[in-house]
Amino acid sequence: MEPLKIRTLQSIDAEPLLKFELENRQWFERHIDARSATFYSMDGVTQHIASYLSGLANGTWHPFVIEDSDGNIVGRANLKDIDRSERSAEIGYRIAESACGQGLATLAVRRLIQEARSRWNLTRLVANVYAGNMGSAKVLQRCGFSIEQVSHQKEAEDNYFFMLSINDNG
Ligand SMILES: CC(C)(COP(=O)(O)OP(=O)(O)OC[C@H]1O[C@@H](n2cnc3c(N)ncnc32)[C@H](O)[C@@H]1OP(=O)(O)O)[C@@H](O)C(=O)NCCC(=O)NCCS
Repeated sequence: MEPLKIRTLQSIDAEPLLKFELENRQWFERHIDARSATFYSMDGVTQHIASYLSGLANGTWHPFVIEDSDGNIVGRANLKDIDRSERSAEIGYRIAESACGQGLATLAVRRLIQEARSRWNLTRLVANVYAGNMGSAKVLQRCGFSIEQVSHQKEAEDNYFFMLSINDNG
């Protein structure tokens, strides 16, 4: 695999982020909820980044991007809804279709766990996965998450709720 970098999202990422999201829109929509149509423009992505960075500033969100060796964004991963009093957060991630199957999501989730522990002092991470998303379930299980429950939603796919307890020592 080419060398790559996982780093915090920045306000200057709008153009490469829009490219990444547009190129992979149909791929993502096969596995996760679709974004609104207004997201897919420079204005939409700029607002999206501003909202995520404001979440970072107030300690509720930590957005990351994965960059390949040419500086292209090939994936994203987020600590979402960080709750400092409950010491918990939800995680989310998406990898470019062309970069899948090389361990990037596994790498990103491990980085989220490390950041959750060392930067945010969290003890619990959760993730929601549609039942048909075998790749995502595999990533979570490989990173130590276990299935806590399956919710059977009417008119929707079943949803797996994953959880990881993080201890302070590693
Ligand atoms: C799910 C996703 C993040 C996985 O990314 P990735 O970088 O390919 O993940 P990894 O390479 O770290 O691991 C995926 C593993 O699942 C396996 N896998 C992928 N699809 C699979 C399937 N349909 N059935 C069984 N295993 C599958 C891969 O073979 C790999 O296992 P291996 O390393 O033992 O070969 C990526 O497919 C994606 O972004 N999908 C669209 C968005 C999404 O679903 N996000 C997650 C929402 S919960």
